Amino acid sequence: MKLNYKTFWRKSGLKGRWGEIYLSRLEKYKPKIFLEIGVFCGVTARNTCDYLFQVHRNNFNYTGIDLFGISKKSKEDEIEPKFLKNQKFSNPLKNLYYNYILKENLNSLDSVKNLLKRYKNNINLIAGDTNTVLHKIDLKNIDFAFIDGGHSYETVMNDLTILYQNLKGKNKVLLCDDYGKASHIPEVERAVNDFSKKRSLHINVIEDRFAEIII
Ligand SMILES: C[S@@+](CC[C@H](N)C(=O)[O-])C[C@H]1O[C@@H](n2cnc3c(N)ncnc32)[C@H](O)[C@@H]1O
Repeated sequence: MKLNYKTFWRKSGLKGRWGEIYLSRLEKYKPKIFLEIGVFCGVTARNTCDYLFQVHRNNFNYTGIDLFGISKKSKEDEIEPKFLKNQKFSNPLKNLYYNYILKENLNSLDSVKNLLKRYKNNINLIAGDTNTVLHKIDLKNIDFAFIDGGHSYETVMNDLTILYQNLKGKNKVLLCDDYGKASHIPEVERAVNDFSKKRSLHINVIEDRFAEIII
């Protein structure tokens, strides 16, 4: 199957070849129940749903959690995309289209819902801080979690720990962005290392960027 990560004329955390590298991890595991932490403008969400639909038709489920503009409980050092501050585009046409014609905030629940509308029966989008949300939702059936939300040590450790408590011993996949040199965030690396060391889990570093852990 050809892996083609599309950007839908929006912003994505996975530009260029990174989108295809990400999709290759889905191809390897073919998860049915999927969690994305940090949805941003929904581009990876849409690519994930498109891929899972190709493989499983309507027999898949995607849950995405993001602050979607609401204030967070956690610290200020989450290292969020600068784009979120005032939706600045380097492409003037995009600026005109999204900020003046549509007046659409791409990191809003409504905008992402619209991008995913063809999968409305398969998706669950949640606005909130993972430091509270993950304690309230059922995580027991997740096959694959892409962890790309808050990037502070505290939040990454929170996200990994709660997923581990729900999924340990089930052979499930945790894929963390921004671990390796290609897009390094030291707090992410430290949290992933401390989490894995404590439980003697192996970290598979994918293309010097993603940390993949089987739990
Ligand atoms: C790097 S972006 C995610 C990129 C996205 N996965 C993609 O591939 O395009 C990080 C997102 O995490 C969200 N975020 C930051 N801290 C969060 C938290 N504590 N809980 C939930 N979402 C959070 C931000 O609002 C932002 O949209």
